[in-house]
Amino acid sequence: HLSVQERIDRKRNAALIGGGQKRIDAQHKRGKLTARERVELLLDKDSFVECDMFVEHRCSDFGMEEDHNKFAGDSVVTGQGRINGRLVYVFSQDFTVFGGSLSGAHAQKICKIMDQAMMVGAPVIGLNDSGGARIQEGVESLAGYADIFLRNVMASGVVPQISLIMGPCAGGAVYSPALTDFTFMVKDTSYLFITGPDVVKSVTNEDVTQEELGGAKTHTAVSGVAHRAFENDIDALLNLRNFFNFLPLSNQDPAPVTECHDPSDRLVPGLDTIVPFETTKAYDMLDIIQGIADEREFFEIMPNYAKNIVVGFARMNGRTVGIVGNQPKVASGCLDINSSVKGARFVRFCDAFNIPILTFVDVPGFLPGTSQEYGGIIRHGAKLLFAFAEATVPKITIITRKAYGGAYDVMSSKHLRGDVNYAWPSAEVAVMGAKGAVQIIFRGKSNQAEQEAEYVEKFANPFPAAVRGFVDDIIVPSTTRKRICRDLEVLESLQTLQTDLTLLRRDT
Ligand code: COA
Repeated sequence: HLSVQERIDRKRNAALIGGGQKRIDAQHKRGKLTARERVELLLDKDSFVECDMFVEHRCSDFGMEEDHNKFAGDSVVTGQGRINGRLVYVFSQDFTVFGGSLSGAHAQKICKIMDQAMMVGAPVIGLNDSGGARIQEGVESLAGYADIFLRNVMASGVVPQISLIMGPCAGGAVYSPALTDFTFMVKDTSYLFITGPDVVKSVTNEDVTQEELGGAKTHTAVSGVAHRAFENDIDALLNLRNFFNFLPLSNQDPAPVTECHDPSDRLVPGLDTIVPFETTKAYDMLDIIQGIADEREFFEIMPNYAKNIVVGFARMNGRTVGIVGNQPKVASGCLDINSSVKGARFVRFCDAFNIPILTFVDVPGFLPGTSQEYGGIIRHGAKLLFAFAEATVPKITIITRKAYGGAYDVMSSKHLRGDVNYAWPSAEVAVMGAKGAVQIIFRGKSNQAEQEAEYVEKFANPFPAAVRGFVDDIIVPSTTRKRICRDLEVLESLQTLQTDLTLLRRDT
């Protein structure tokens, strides 16, 4: 007979090896770490406090009730720990136990830590590696997914939620990551799809591989389902630690401030010549963003999707900011459906989590054409406009060159409660470019070149906006970092008074 203590020890040890050494070896052979190794790498050393190690599944069909089919902790490792000293809740699905499939008990463990995270105000990170619903459990498993989905939705905008896909994630399982704020993937070893290649073949007769259908490349470049992909498990977990440092713990927390060794009044001389004299010539908005950010560090979100808009996190004088910029290098920085949706979601995240938004504008307008109109550019473009307009976090906008037409309004203009709006001397705020404008208002008339010159003189400069107070100042580009850092300091008090200010602004 074993003593209680012996039984406890035995169960704990069993939980530590999950589905057993053979399956752990198989996991390693695929270049994947185990659920526990991943948690160890993600969290600060020795900070993990595990929960529910003794939980087992409750299924008694298909021989599941037999001892050899019971695993202490079932197919997920859950608990809390620290990343650079800051609290985080984690679940890590264990592929070595029934392929990480989701039983009722597995779902219950995830729900428990999500509830705690919401109660104390700390982010939730999910490490997904699962064959989906536990087939032997049927509806109990489906109920478990729904319980998680509901919590994803209730936690949305309350605590940051991040998913890292590190293996399969198929069927109903995909909706939990999709409901979280950020979805990252590991290249080659992870995939997400609603139905796998076999079902696709039988329904649509398409031949497609798992990787083509739902691999990291597909989701980061084509579908926009995932926000970034990393080389392997280790690279992904280290990047996740770095990313976590940008985020507040909850919507009650201000954006984190870290020690900054980059002078806040640093001039960036390169910016004075970065915008080409010729207005149709491209330049890289990333050069501007990296130029002004602390230590040039910019964590880009969705770098390979809708590249005509750039979004991501940086720090200004140690304080996290969200940056949105049109990218003149891609489709002249036009706004289209995908870039509007990408931008809108990012802006809403920043607004929910007290992260100031910096917007760099060089936009010739919305992309014309039937594919855009049929795709609903009007309703998707409205999402970006809505997001900027409703955001009450500090908003600073810099027009580097073009701010044409409706896109001028949309890109965090003064009119949408922009707190500080600047123009560079190269700014052109107008309804459209000179050529198009003259063709319309002087159609069929001679001396178009002369009219064009007059239009440029009148509109292709920052003055029409500046004389009306629609930009607060025309600034020397090299001083942009200095100005933004100073403004953010001033606007900090705006955040504490936010509720009152919001009311005040609505009244006016
Ligand atoms: N329910 C119960 N057990 C599952 C499971 C599930 N959904 N998915 C995988 N498993 C088990 C397998 O039976 C296997 O058990 P074993 O180690 O005792 O042999 C183990 O997990 C590993 O699965 P395996 O199929 O050998 O791994 P793989 O890497 O070759 O394939 C999947 C992984 C996910 C592609 C494959 O397991 C699969 O298609 N699973 C079903 C997916 C599904 O349709 N889920 C339901 C819809 S939500």
